[in-house]
Amino acid sequence: MTSFPDGFVWGAATASYQVEGAVSEDGRGPSIWDTFAHTPGKIADGETGDVADDHYHRYAEDIRLLAELGLKAYRFSIAWSRVIPAGSGATNSAGLDFYRRLAETCLENGVTPYATLYHWDLPQPLEDAGGWLVRDAAERFRDFAAITQGALSDVIKHWITLNEPWCSAFLGYGNGEHAPGRTEGADALKAVHHLLLGHGLALQAIKSPENTIGITLNPAPIHAAESGESEADRDAARRIDGLRNRLFLEPLLLGKYPSDVLEDTGMADWFAQYATDLPVISGPLDFLGVNYYCPTTVAAPDGPISDPGKVSTQPGSENVVAVDTGLERTQMGWPIQPSGLRDILKAINDLAPDLPLYVTENGAAYPDEVLSDGTIQDDKRQSYLEQHIEVCRQVTAEGLPLKGYFIWTLMDNFEWAYGFTRRFGLIHVDYPTQQRTLKQSAHWLKNFLTA
Ligand code: FCB
Repeated sequence: MTSFPDGFVWGAATASYQVEGAVSEDGRGPSIWDTFAHTPGKIADGETGDVADDHYHRYAEDIRLLAELGLKAYRFSIAWSRVIPAGSGATNSAGLDFYRRLAETCLENGVTPYATLYHWDLPQPLEDAGGWLVRDAAERFRDFAAITQGALSDVIKHWITLNEPWCSAFLGYGNGEHAPGRTEGADALKAVHHLLLGHGLALQAIKSPENTIGITLNPAPIHAAESGESEADRDAARRIDGLRNRLFLEPLLLGKYPSDVLEDTGMADWFAQYATDLPVISGPLDFLGVNYYCPTTVAAPDGPISDPGKVSTQPGSENVVAVDTGLERTQMGWPIQPSGLRDILKAINDLAPDLPLYVTENGAAYPDEVLSDGTIQDDKRQSYLEQHIEVCRQVTAEGLPLKGYFIWTLMDNFEWAYGFTRRFGLIHVDYPTQQRTLKQSAHWLKNFLTA
């Protein structure tokens, strides 16, 4: 512990739709995740987030548990459709009241709230009006951000505009695995632009010396198969790195889109019309959040890389495949490589020297078992966390501006299309009874943080 810089922030993260439940309480409107989860065939076992962890009612217990683990920060997200049920128009004060109670409970427990304004739950009426494929969504997001920050600025000082816009765009509008479930090919890049514009407009609207504002991305090291021996594999890695990393980092940090990505996807002319948005998108950040789980290694099969007829998260690279490099994997199938976290933090620091960085999510899913004595021995999760925390220690010792680390996630929850079949929590949740039980990893963390 002493080897981390003073003031290093230790936290855990959740997201509104994954934990709250109470989907029709106190005036909350429907979001794209309500609609999607209630569409047959979209979620494992036909589950929904209707109840999830019932955090809407149990937040006080959950925050108390978080504080007992020695964690000092809670990253949660604010459901837009609780605050503005139709996405635009009337504000619902009961929605704001809930987040005020949540933030105040954090503060009473010595926990600093970090609020994410958008963790994927677009109000359904905005999707009906075109969703993130239309520019209006960005402006409505700005309004929501301004109203929410304006109402809660006395209790919430740290704001994250968007969580992983890559997922919103390419899972939501690319391969349709996430809400709203659309498969729009290269048009998913329009969603990228409108999400980033929404971020930039929100940043302008809420930035003040009283608070810090950032955005959370999910950048990942992208490698070519066989260490890049083949030219085609190297080109595949360039394309996927472009879509996953540079398409977000460069507009945000350098004020430009990577021209190769716009060419690969046939979107250069569309983007050229909106070049004047780039100064808004690249407004000065107080920090960048990094969600890191794993690296990706890719190869290009024989034949054309691009196949616009194919449903994919990879416009212009539809035929690129991920390859197994033999690394151990978590239950998600994600290869474990802690050093990838250092690589990505270093790459970002090279682009934007000294910009404060936070790991805003890191963690692992395993099929936890409750033993007959009631304990949950999740050694693999503990080992995953230990290894990644050690990387954080190393990079801070090297002088990288890493300011904090948030574990995904505080407690088992609704893991999107996987429903309740993937458990990432430090705390086990028995869904029928809503009973919370600390896993071994949580006991370990508590010892680590309080040692
Ligand atoms: C991230 C999401 C988070 C959770 C983890 C496992 O992409 O931000 O909500 O699903 O993955």
